[in-house]
Amino acid sequence: MKIGCPTEVKPQEYRVGLTPDAARELVAHGHAVLVQEGAGTGAGFTDEAYRAAGAEIAPDAAAVFAGADMIVKVKEPQSAERAMLRAGQVLFTYLHLAPDPDQTRDLLGSGVTAIAYETVTDRHGGLPLLAPMSEVAGRLAPQVGASTLQKANGGRGVLLGGVPGVRPARVVIIGGGVVGTAAARVAVGMGANVTVLDRSVPRLSYLDDIFMGKLTTQYSSEAAIADLLTTADMVIGAVLIPGAAAPKLVRRDQLATMLPGAALVDVAIDQGGCFETSRPTTHQDPIYEVDGIMHYCVANMPGAVARTATQALGNATLPFVVALADKGWRQAATDDAHLRAGLATHEGRLASPPVGDALGLDAVTPEALLGL
Ligand SMILES: NC(=O)c1ccc[n+]([C@@H]2O[C@H](COP(=O)([O-])OP(=O)(O)OC[C@H]3O[C@@H](n4cnc5c(N)ncnc54)[C@H](O)[C@@H]3O)[C@@H](O)[C@H]2O)c1
Repeated sequence: MKIGCPTEVKPQEYRVGLTPDAARELVAHGHAVLVQEGAGTGAGFTDEAYRAAGAEIAPDAAAVFAGADMIVKVKEPQSAERAMLRAGQVLFTYLHLAPDPDQTRDLLGSGVTAIAYETVTDRHGGLPLLAPMSEVAGRLAPQVGASTLQKANGGRGVLLGGVPGVRPARVVIIGGGVVGTAAARVAVGMGANVTVLDRSVPRLSYLDDIFMGKLTTQYSSEAAIADLLTTADMVIGAVLIPGAAAPKLVRRDQLATMLPGAALVDVAIDQGGCFETSRPTTHQDPIYEVDGIMHYCVANMPGAVARTATQALGNATLPFVVALADKGWRQAATDDAHLRAGLATHEGRLASPPVGDALGLDAVTPEALLGL
């Protein structure tokens, strides 16, 4: 099979769908790999590295889309890219179709077999192609929060780990899932005084076990949040209610109860944010102030560390890319229920009932599509 990897065109997207290592693996499986010139530059991978891995370099996106049987990307295809997709071709990337009627219409119209990273599942009930980005965003959160707390950035001028004789910063993490746990790991490592709140008691008990007394866990009630806000130097928002907008857990009037210059890092901003005063920001201009409290609300945090994020995503996608290339999408999705859960469109049919519900379109299950 010929696998194509175009340069990402969405603004501020520096990741790339295939690393040179992934290309090498596919070539070793007997496939051809076509990478657009400069596709890996943003993540620090040169054309030479892809060539050395056995890939062919294509001059532009048109050549990649025209030549490849399967396109492997990061972000959902933009409108110019969608115009180059066709029936008989497989597209494997993040899609997020439910809030995107235009993209859904174009994918259905193109006839492409689209498989969405974000709905591929694993046997633990998790989302293995979303988790690596949550790991990245979670580990970044205390790092960007620490810089937000610096005086020059408008913060309280507090050092996360303190120094001998000066207490460390108090970090409150709301949501102890993948993002929250990763954030806790780094905040604890930086020497902060960390409290994690969650609504799931089993999750709190897991955190209590693995951190062995290095952080405090607390049930996430309105009262607990209100109380912790008054002494927090940094609050990290990391909640998720699957399929729903993030609940607003800190109201604007509560900002007045916080320490001036405290930092709010809203990782859940991609689901609307969990602080009432959050609005999406960019890496160019990440921080703003409301009522004396500094907000960091970048919706694509992993973009700040495009190389790490590309490698982490690539580790998670590669086994699926190899299966799709070796077996063809139909056999691969028949053999693996977790990959099958990613099926989104095929020859003009929508294979995702949740997307159908969200957009008012007819949809079949992936099993029905495959006749299983
Ligand atoms: N900004 C970014 O760049 C970026 C990157 C990756 C993930 N995210 C977002 O981060 C958020 C968290 O993702 P995740 O992978 O950790 O999800 P997850 O499902 O692993 O964890 C979410 C946790 O929130 C908890 N929760 C739900 N309601 C709560 C409440 N009221 N109070 C406290 N906890 C509550 C759940 O019990 C769960 O443990 C999501 O919105 C995700 O989209 C953002």
